Amino acid sequence: MFKQFDLVVIGAGPGGYIAAIRASQLGMKVACVDAWQNGDGKPAPGGTCTNVGCIPSKALLQSSEHFDQANHHFAEHGIECKGVSLKLDRMLGRKNDVVKQNNDGILYLFKKNKIAFFHGKGSFVGKSAEGWQIKVSGTTEEDLSAKHVVVATGSSARALPGLEFDEKQVLSNDGALNIGAVPKRLGVIGAGVIGLEMGSVWRRLGAEVTVLEAMPEFLAAVDQTIAKEAFKIFQKQGLKINMGAKISDINRTARQVSIDWIDAAGQEQKLVVDKLIVSIGRVPYTGGLGAEVVGLKLDERGFVLVDDHCKTNLENIWAVGDVVRGPMLAHKAEEEGVSVAERMAGQQGHVNFNTIPWVIYTSPEIAWVGQNEQELKAAGTAYKSGSFPFLANGRARALGDTTGMVKILAHAQTDEVLGVHVIGPMASELIAEAVTIMEFRGAAEDIARICHAHPTLSEAMKEAALAVDKRALNF
Ligand code: FAD
Ligand code: NAI
Repeated sequence: MFKQFDLVVIGAGPGGYIAAIRASQLGMKVACVDAWQNGDGKPAPGGTCTNVGCIPSKALLQSSEHFDQANHHFAEHGIECKGVSLKLDRMLGRKNDVVKQNNDGILYLFKKNKIAFFHGKGSFVGKSAEGWQIKVSGTTEEDLSAKHVVVATGSSARALPGLEFDEKQVLSNDGALNIGAVPKRLGVIGAGVIGLEMGSVWRRLGAEVTVLEAMPEFLAAVDQTIAKEAFKIFQKQGLKINMGAKISDINRTARQVSIDWIDAAGQEQKLVVDKLIVSIGRVPYTGGLGAEVVGLKLDERGFVLVDDHCKTNLENIWAVGDVVRGPMLAHKAEEEGVSVAERMAGQQGHVNFNTIPWVIYTSPEIAWVGQNEQELKAAGTAYKSGSFPFLANGRARALGDTTGMVKILAHAQTDEVLGVHVIGPMASELIAEAVTIMEFRGAAEDIARICHAHPTLSEAMKEAALAVDKRALNF
């Protein structure tokens, strides 16, 4: 006997659970199926983001930053801390509590929005006159049927060929968030977002961290003024980042992992570490979905094939988030979730890919939206640039964190803001103003004319906008 719904969402990560809530708001009868469970075997909705991604990584980044501040920076404020010690189990326990609060929050939202939640794996099994048929297996055994289906099954960590994750010594993001004792020597393969964030956490807690990155250019997708500044700062903090590294062999024994690699100058090198984080990107996850049963098309890399509106090749089957093309970001998944629910209801939901912000939560934080200088040059777009350093910002001085800058790129003729790039304190929060301006297709002068509270970090945004017109006031 199939339980009938208007919509079944497979996956309760940020793409799936937000699609379910929006569809319910629009009057649909909605079910959401999710398989995730943590140690206790109970439902843990929220996907990668809540369980082993955004939320736990930010909890550990915050805790480790406090530790670093207490050890190295409180003294500048006249606060002497003697005998600062680390209780790693408590730090990890707090991180788990934060995750659990988010899991429970989503379960509450399902109840509030009258969404039927099924804990188990959802697989396509066929189609009838009533709609697509989905079998749930796991904690719950159920047969569901719905006119619409949203596939939001997310992604998983990419492993190096021949080097499976054991989460004891060779760690994915999952193991990297759960190391039981600070390793003396930690290796990281891949100087991308996870490598830098998790490398920073364990460096602050006392590990000697060595990063091996294949590309010759550090953070190639980031504006190179910002990336170069970041590289200098991270090296100074103690992250040993090796660019242009080619891994030739990796061997693990019971106690250590040994990596043979060739450096940028072609010299053979050996790195021996106690733990190794492999953070070389993520792959779409469609295991057990039964895509082949109904003929749901995947592309050559395994992503569910969708059009600009997240429609798949099958009628009324939609796909959102990490399992489809585009940046693997929680807020991108959420925007797509909202847009597909609105389209099912006959509205015109859409996602503006030009204004999706990126944030790397290192210290200092790095955030950007829109195009960077190298992209504008390559496209032959005429642009103006204005920068303002936090060194000249009163609030940053008061905080005791004056690293970095705001850089604004605007069209040479129209002054429209084309990209904003920030490295510095609270860059993650500052970037929201830039996103808003770009969403309204505003000009640098618009930011320059807006009254910003004093003393705030946001004044650096205003000053950078003034600098586009060569009239910064405080620099
Ligand atoms: P997911 O969050 O992966 O959720 C998919 C869900 O579907 C999972 O619960 C999975 O169990 C379930 N599922 C899969 N198949 C089935 C099935 N057949 N039946 C039932 N359930 C199924 N992004 C940011 O924007 N900001 C950050 O700070 C950030 N930090 C990150 C840190 C780390 C360490 C990692 C790994 C990622 C981070 N991300 C961050 C990326 C972010 O987590 C993802 O972009 C986001 O989770 C994608 O959401 P999603 O809904 O597409 O998929
Ligand atoms: P990434 O794509 O950010 O970085 C992977 C890095 O590994 C790249 O620099 C790449 O050149 C390098 N690499 C690939 N193969 C290699 C090899 N064989 N040897 C050495 N280096 C190699 O991927 P990452 O860090 O795994 O994160 C995955 C995704 O998760 C991110 O792209 C992002 O979408 C998401 N994420 C977002 C966060 C945020 O928004 N703050 C935080 C963490 C993850």
